[in-house]
Amino acid sequence: MTLLIKNCRLVSSGKDIFRNILVKNGKIASITSKNLKADKEIDAKKNYVIPGIIDPHVHFREPGMTHKEDFFTGSVAAAAGGITTILDMPNTNPPTTTAELLKEKKHLARKSIVNYGLHFGAAIDNIKEIIKVRDKVASTKLFMNLSTGKMMIDDRIKLEQIFEVSKIVAVHAEKEKVAEAVAYSKKTGTPLYLCHISLKDEIDFLRKAKNRKIFAEATPHHLFLTESDFRKQKGFADMKPNLKSKKDQDALWKAIDEGIIDTIGTDHAPHTKEEKRKKEHPSGVPGCETALPLMLDAVNRGKISLTRVVRLMCVNPAKIFRIKNKGRLKEGYDADLTILDMNKKKKVQNKELFTKCKWSPFDGKILKGWPVITIVGGNVVFDETGFYDIKAKEVVFDG
Ligand code: DOR
Ligand code: ZN
Ligand code: ZN
Repeated sequence: MTLLIKNCRLVSSGKDIFRNILVKNGKIASITSKNLKADKEIDAKKNYVIPGIIDPHVHFREPGMTHKEDFFTGSVAAAAGGITTILDMPNTNPPTTTAELLKEKKHLARKSIVNYGLHFGAAIDNIKEIIKVRDKVASTKLFMNLSTGKMMIDDRIKLEQIFEVSKIVAVHAEKEKVAEAVAYSKKTGTPLYLCHISLKDEIDFLRKAKNRKIFAEATPHHLFLTESDFRKQKGFADMKPNLKSKKDQDALWKAIDEGIIDTIGTDHAPHTKEEKRKKEHPSGVPGCETALPLMLDAVNRGKISLTRVVRLMCVNPAKIFRIKNKGRLKEGYDADLTILDMNKKKKVQNKELFTKCKWSPFDGKILKGWPVITIVGGNVVFDETGFYDIKAKEVVFDG
């Protein structure tokens, strides 16, 4: 099977570049000015074609919490948001903390229509399991604060051991826990991925403390919402880390410019409306469908360049988590592609969302710049008519 995507506008720093992309057996076979023959053609109509978005941080809730989301509904939401690969978090029920449970979750993930990889959970007593699986997972995910799933660890000896045996540790660490995580990384030499950095203080610390093995993520909700949205939306804008001040948000955008923030991860963490309406509600908001449109809207407003968006959402997640053959438009790489219409204006509407929870903290917001076609492994899985249930693949991690 060959597919030719014609009239692709490629992201470049200089003048516009237009090419055709030939896809053969799910891979990019050539990026060319020639008009090659193929079994099927798609006209990109001179819209931007970027590497498919890689979301390094989602909670798709399987097994155990499928009333909130599952790998199928979560993956459709991802595809609708231009995401072609997700890395799923281990705080499910049961949590993904043994090789056996990892295997079971991989089986469940086969219903995904976007590519997937899994983070493995650190527990108080699973060092041997971490060693068994470390080459086949995105990271060891460690909760250093309390959050959904009760996976927090605060024993310093255990924490150091977890770093010692892991390929890379992804942490939920807030405030002073950020410095503690950085210290374990520096002591053991194990790379560290700091999820959802949200405070100016954390950024000021990282400006000095970061080295080439320390990476930081920002979420769209911290970039586009503040504590005043929490006052309006209550539970529907409550997550961990919670929304911060305008000052913190400005620091986050500045940190993006400075290269202190390496990735955008959605922290897609759906909970049902009923759960969220309660006074005692769980933390987390969905984000897969709105992350890229929010960033593209920011590009249209001149707040960030499209080149940087591609670096944050495609190139860097692939590099940091050593995902093979993804994150770039390059011959031989997987044909995971997202076509953008930078002029499309659309309102985010709860009723149109594909996530099982059917709500978004961005409901009602009009955004300019949307993904219009999502291609996974050479197959169109989403376009303006809806989604196609074509199963995707597990990612491969390099060495
Ligand atoms: O708000 C959050 N929700 N923060 C987390 O760390 C976990 C997540 C979830 O799984 O609901
Ligand atoms: Zn977290
Ligand atoms: Zn999370």
